[in-house]
Amino acid sequence: MASSWVRGSWPPPHILYGGDYNPEQWPPEVWREDVKLMTEAGVNLATVGVFSWSWLEPAPGEFDFGWLREVLDLLHSSGIDVALATPTASPPPWLSASHPEVLPVTAAGVRFSHGSRQHFCVHSPVYRRHALRIVDRLARELGDHPAVRLWHLHNEYACHVPACYCDVSAAAFRDWLRHRYGTPDALNEAWGAAFWSQRYRDFAEVLPPRVTPTHPNPAQQLDYQRFMNDSYLAEFTDERDLVRAVTPGLPVTTNFMGFFKPLDYFQWAAAEDLCCTDNYPDPADPASPMLTAMHYDLIRSVKKGTPWTVMEQTTLRVNWRPVNAAKPPGEMRKGSYQALARDAVGLLFFQWRAARAGAEKFHSALLPHSGTAAPAWAEVTGLGAELQTLPELNASRVASAAAIAFSWPNWWALELGSKPSAEIQMLSQLRWMYRPLWEAAATADFVRPDEDLSGYPLLLVPSLYLLTEAEATCISSYVRSGGTAVLSFWTGIVNESEQVYLGGYGGPLRELFGGAVLDVAPLQPGETVELAWADGRRSSATHWQDIIEPGAGQVLARYASGPWAGRPAVLEHRYGDGRVIYLGTRLDQAAMRDLIAPLLGGQPPVPSGVERVLRTAGPVTYEFLLNHTGTPVPVPTAPGGTDLLTGTEAGEHLNLPPAGVAIIRREPAS
Ligand code: GAL
Repeated sequence: MASSWVRGSWPPPHILYGGDYNPEQWPPEVWREDVKLMTEAGVNLATVGVFSWSWLEPAPGEFDFGWLREVLDLLHSSGIDVALATPTASPPPWLSASHPEVLPVTAAGVRFSHGSRQHFCVHSPVYRRHALRIVDRLARELGDHPAVRLWHLHNEYACHVPACYCDVSAAAFRDWLRHRYGTPDALNEAWGAAFWSQRYRDFAEVLPPRVTPTHPNPAQQLDYQRFMNDSYLAEFTDERDLVRAVTPGLPVTTNFMGFFKPLDYFQWAAAEDLCCTDNYPDPADPASPMLTAMHYDLIRSVKKGTPWTVMEQTTLRVNWRPVNAAKPPGEMRKGSYQALARDAVGLLFFQWRAARAGAEKFHSALLPHSGTAAPAWAEVTGLGAELQTLPELNASRVASAAAIAFSWPNWWALELGSKPSAEIQMLSQLRWMYRPLWEAAATADFVRPDEDLSGYPLLLVPSLYLLTEAEATCISSYVRSGGTAVLSFWTGIVNESEQVYLGGYGGPLRELFGGAVLDVAPLQPGETVELAWADGRRSSATHWQDIIEPGAGQVLARYASGPWAGRPAVLEHRYGDGRVIYLGTRLDQAAMRDLIAPLLGGQPPVPSGVERVLRTAGPVTYEFLLNHTGTPVPVPTAPGGTDLLTGTEAGEHLNLPPAGVAIIRREPAS
């Protein structure tokens, strides 16, 4: 049975279904059973080789690709395609035993040992040489195997070791700084080294931000985050270039981790052919459906227009939380459709067969320890069969109603120490602004603040603390030419070097606010302040108070309690052909809903706990409806159209059972 996915193409003609497959953990007779059961489950893609280095190169320079070729042959004979992984995320013990300097070092100077995974310093020339050698050999041995459709480089770059502080890294950091700044004086200027006598005579004196007696230099820390991102990206592009040279045209990817702070996925996405992500929502957290939607919106956004894939999720449980709640029946299916609703074309899992040994033996898998008798197996085969009927979805795309400005350098800078409040954290600010969109069933793209924003009816800007001149220009011109932007407090505070814009907060964006932010007054955790709205409403706010001097903007709300009572809290300002709503405090959920919903241009309401997303393909629309509650919910829908999952005609109401999903396909009447 041959695969219909043409080698070298993306997206595939069907929905990818499968997961990580680790045959080296099992004897060959199990491989045959695996392939038989994969076929039964509707699996059409297996990711192999992720952690296989010590099996592919059992001793330095001695290679063994025979067993993996046999596995690929087996998969191929059943029409199962392969994402071939480079095994560089877990070097064999022989490498660090003979070259201990490849092991990474913490900021406190502790050198990690081998015995788990990710135990390498990305700057180590020894590691890099060995990594590229195994990648090159793998590509030459198996890259042209007829089963292979994708390159999966490494695994979750930077996941356990976001930064290394060893001497080799220190030398690499100095080179990076020389390149960025040219002279020690320029470095001193950018780092504000006049503070605490930190002035450097020579780059040779500079260290990574290792443990120091008290607050390290924040600009040095920020540069270290940029440097580590660049270093991991360089390792990725080295591997990518090698495999591209051997197998030109074969799409290259790696697995992202959603909102993962150490790596700037906008940059990474530009370096790969498609994006993949790993998502492990906590079934015990009621916010998980919204957080998953936000995660998937990000992954769709970092490579706009290119369909993406869930590279890892779990069928039932993970193994790494203190208590690993199991997904209730139906949850795995519903969570999978959440991804498809937001433009995914693949649903892959960690992992195919539950391990019997090692640290992840109690992590669920497509094939559980108890085999095909386990309830999860029925869900797995059911979803596999259902997905085979939906290939048409791959041609459709989400239409977004809003954009959220987001940048990794801002995230890094916002969370550095010594701020007015450590409570202002990026993900919390993002969730605060995302929630009203989620509740109104409005899909949002995450955008770089310096990209062309002109197509979006609404732009949300949560705490863009680090703001470049280029970003400020983009946001201003978006508003000037008619856009509506909601900007939150703690925006436009510092430049790229983490130096404060003087003359009133907001820097190059301050003229948009409609008032002058003269100072800030953070609130204690749990403390609230009352707001009085110009239309007579009252609401509350938390976290923060800007101390605002009124200006050209209209005051929508004022503080009504506390020492700053009477001062403006929310402003609306006409600017050019557009308008800005400036939030000087963190409005409560209801006030955010009231503020944002009218800006969304008449989205039809959805019952609480129901997710609605629209995908379109030309004149055809697909309305995804997902019930995240534990009870049946009647959902009003526009009549007409057919539910792809049941084949029934859509009426005026659709009864969604708990964890229920519907995909209503509509075509314009001819
Ligand atoms: C991922 C990782 C997998 C596996 C999984 C367990 O972070 O890529 O290899 O460890 O977590 O949830």
